[in-house]
Amino acid sequence: MASEIPFQRIRLNLRKYILEPAKRRREVKLSDMKEFFSDLEAAERMLSSGKDPVIYQYCEYEASEEPDNLILGLTVIYPGKVGKEYFMTRGHFHEKDSGEIYYCIYGSGIILIQSKDGQTAYMELKQGDLCYVPPGWGHRTINTGRKRFVFLFVYPSGSGHDYGIIKEKGFAKLVIEEKGKWKVVDNPRYLG
Ligand code: PA5
Ligand code: MN
Repeated sequence: MASEIPFQRIRLNLRKYILEPAKRRREVKLSDMKEFFSDLEAAERMLSSGKDPVIYQYCEYEASEEPDNLILGLTVIYPGKVGKEYFMTRGHFHEKDSGEIYYCIYGSGIILIQSKDGQTAYMELKQGDLCYVPPGWGHRTINTGRKRFVFLFVYPSGSGHDYGIIKEKGFAKLVIEEKGKWKVVDNPRYLG
């Protein structure tokens, strides 16, 4: 009889940038998240010229949905920009305050965190860097490089994802390219 113990080898397939096995896989295209970019006109222009790039993709391995389990995942953010803003994840708060660990395995980027009262902090992540996102902080990752930005993440099952706050108010900071370099600037449209 096959064992039901949630104990198995998980392989990191670096050719396809997926975990094997993975239960959830998702590709997020520009059309899925255009309102998360600050320059909505630039996003609309790309879409109406027939470009709908994959901004990022991720997959997750979850041994069990029981509380106290951990979810392990892999995200790939492609290089590119919408207007001056780099390709990034939508960003979210966990519904149930819980922390998360990120481990960059390829490329480089920024992780931006934000509290519900609008405090922010950011950190650059390069290959080999780890980052701990404290419970209660919204988080978004941004690819500031020319290669894929690839990282592993681990967080507790049952954390849930709240995208609504970020969708409505935005992040207080934006990561943009200026004179060929990344720069973190205030978001003029932040509604916090
Ligand atoms: O939980 C996380 O922070 C990550 O697993 C993200 O879910 C992943 O990188 C995709 O980003 P988002 O959920 O903001 O679309
Ligand atoms: Mn998260």
